[in-house]
Amino acid sequence: MSRDAQKKLAAEKALEYVEDGTVVGVGTGSTVAFFIDGLARMKGRIEGAVSSSEQSTRQLKSHGIPVFDLNAVGPLKLYVDGADECDPYNRLIKGGGAALTREKIIAEASERFICIIDEAKQVEVLGQFPLPVEVIPMARSLVARRIVELGGQPVWREGVTTDNGNWILDVHHWRITDPVGLEAKLNQIVGVVACGLFAARPADDVIINGQVRVVAR
Ligand code: 5RP
Repeated sequence: MSRDAQKKLAAEKALEYVEDGTVVGVGTGSTVAFFIDGLARMKGRIEGAVSSSEQSTRQLKSHGIPVFDLNAVGPLKLYVDGADECDPYNRLIKGGGAALTREKIIAEASERFICIIDEAKQVEVLGQFPLPVEVIPMARSLVARRIVELGGQPVWREGVTTDNGNWILDVHHWRITDPVGLEAKLNQIVGVVACGLFAARPADDVIINGQVRVVAR
């Protein structure tokens, strides 16, 4: 099966978790784009969506799906998003599309986080995909130096400004054996807005090839 076919299959399966009358948290990326197209078919049954990026907002609105501010709706029942990497414990690297901060906020605000991926995203240890870190622009060099001290190799994603007006450092060649610990350390660096490790709050369920993987915790 092609990667796109796998992404679509995962997105279609995730639609089964959408409850009538709810506001759905929606992530960002090519896998989520299939989910949004599916959501359009049931738009009369949901109240609307909270979106994690301008890109997803445009797609949702193009289908006539109402988009709400998270502050206006409170806790969400469900958040559906893709990932760049996923380990056997449903811990993730996200942010390839530079939307990590809003994605993290919506994941945190949601009762259930379903991650939809294709097989290529599965890894034993996170870190083959460069870890995105969103930084306040004036702190870029400061944060980069701190990351080097932690053993990472940060590369500025030049030319990219996030929806929040910030910049991204992609940290290469990091074998992340303690994702929860590293996430905490990165969060403590002054100038970091958020990092793309979703370990303290991993996905609740991961859908791969139409199969749901739940990790007992
Ligand atoms: C965006 C993300 C995406 O979920 C991630 O990059 C995966 O994208 P795709 O579904 O296109 O492979 O974290 O910030």
